[in-house]
Amino acid sequence: MKSFPIILAAGQGTRMNSKVPKVLHMIGGKPMLQHVIDACSALDTNKIAIVFGHGGEQVQQTIQDDRIKWVLQAEQKGTGHAVAQAIDIIEDDDQVVIAYGDVPLIKPETLKALVNKLADADLCVLTTYLDNPFGYGRIVRNSDGQITKIVEEKDASDEIRLIKEGNTGFIAARGKDLKRWLKELNPENAQGEYYLTDCIGLAVEEGGNVQAVVCDHPLEVQGVNNRIQQAELERAYQLEKVNELMLAGATIADPSRVDIRGNVSVGQDVNIDINAIFNGDVTLGDNVSIQANCVITNATIGAGTLIKPNSVIESATIKEDCEVGPFARIRPDAVLNDKAKVGNFVEIKKSTIGEGSKVSHLSYIGDTTMGADVNIGAGTITCNYDGANKFETIIGDGVFVGSSTQLVAPVSVQKNTTIGAGSTITKDTPEGELTLSRAKQVTIKGWVRPTKNK
Ligand code: UD1
Ligand code: CA
Repeated sequence: MKSFPIILAAGQGTRMNSKVPKVLHMIGGKPMLQHVIDACSALDTNKIAIVFGHGGEQVQQTIQDDRIKWVLQAEQKGTGHAVAQAIDIIEDDDQVVIAYGDVPLIKPETLKALVNKLADADLCVLTTYLDNPFGYGRIVRNSDGQITKIVEEKDASDEIRLIKEGNTGFIAARGKDLKRWLKELNPENAQGEYYLTDCIGLAVEEGGNVQAVVCDHPLEVQGVNNRIQQAELERAYQLEKVNELMLAGATIADPSRVDIRGNVSVGQDVNIDINAIFNGDVTLGDNVSIQANCVITNATIGAGTLIKPNSVIESATIKEDCEVGPFARIRPDAVLNDKAKVGNFVEIKKSTIGEGSKVSHLSYIGDTTMGADVNIGAGTITCNYDGANKFETIIGDGVFVGSSTQLVAPVSVQKNTTIGAGSTITKDTPEGELTLSRAKQVTIKGWVRPTKNK
């Protein structure tokens, strides 16, 4: 039997105070709803329903996935009403799993446990014990410990309010049964809503077997209603990610000052100082050191490489034993070969820096192919753009470029060329020679500095 996750995401999310639908707010750089979809994807499933209401267009634009069946709940009349909107696409033998789009930390294993328990139950509820269960539906059990019903906070007697076991909202049931129960729901309760939770009582009345899976980690099943709760879950999520890195061999200066918005993989003896932000897919080889305040996006960094403070790296490949920064900007399609050095206030874009080559200070290298053992002096600019088109610069092995040089592309600097400081190079340079373009220095004898008019 296939699982059929139905994710409820129609709630307005008023307390976010946002024009963005609540489920599109991010945890770890990914919309909360996407977290839930990803967790549901671990089930044996080929369709996932999302019940949407507010901001539906924005949600559909953001979440692109062929397996998703979009189900509109035009008016929010309760969780039971929300699920009922999907009734026509529920097959009798689907194992339906109800999830919430604003509960982003739910784990795939937990959902699997819920579904697996259906093997010997008609309905499974994910519950959790809470120090303060205020607001939650309470799990009512009989003297044998069997669940008999769920009572919502607003409908609960004082006695029931004392119950610490709360309903997380996640349930699993076979399609055939769920459809029958959904049709029997009515809004005769304190909130005038169709409660999904009434299915539990209906199942029990029929003589059905209702089981619980108890979740021991309250944050895993915590919903987000405002930005304070979002921040709380963000930190919990980050800590979990950072713990994985530490167990994999990275030393993290302060686990609360690293942010992973994507997937980071590390080799052994990696060092990550404070305020590192990783976006997308980042791979750090053995002994890589990331110093303070670096932002690294979709990059591979080879073993032994040192990234000094305040460097920004995006869509680049940095090989082994390189040195980058401080204050370096490595932009898309940059490749630094082994032992390359890129220093402060240097920008590299769509360029290859050859093995052992150095661009140490205040330079822009764009659309350039550079050989090995090149030394680029301070303030060198590849002039790659004429206002309409981009052009390439080629720099051969062993070239030495004096400071404050402009290389006007397209231009090829042949290997072992030396370029005198302050040159503007517009023509290809011959191999092994000194080339420079510089006005002759003159001295005006007896020149007098102007003085201020009285
Ligand atoms: C619900 C449960 C309660 C549980 C609590 C856990 C019911 C009746 N109550 O409470 O037992 O302890 O969750 O947080 O099921 N939604 C819709 N359409 C609607 C109403 C809700 O899509 O018409 C979605 C919301 O976007 C949200 C989820 O369902 O993702 C839960 O809604 P919410 O109003 O937060 O839950 P409660 O009804 O308060
Ligand atoms: Ca709620």
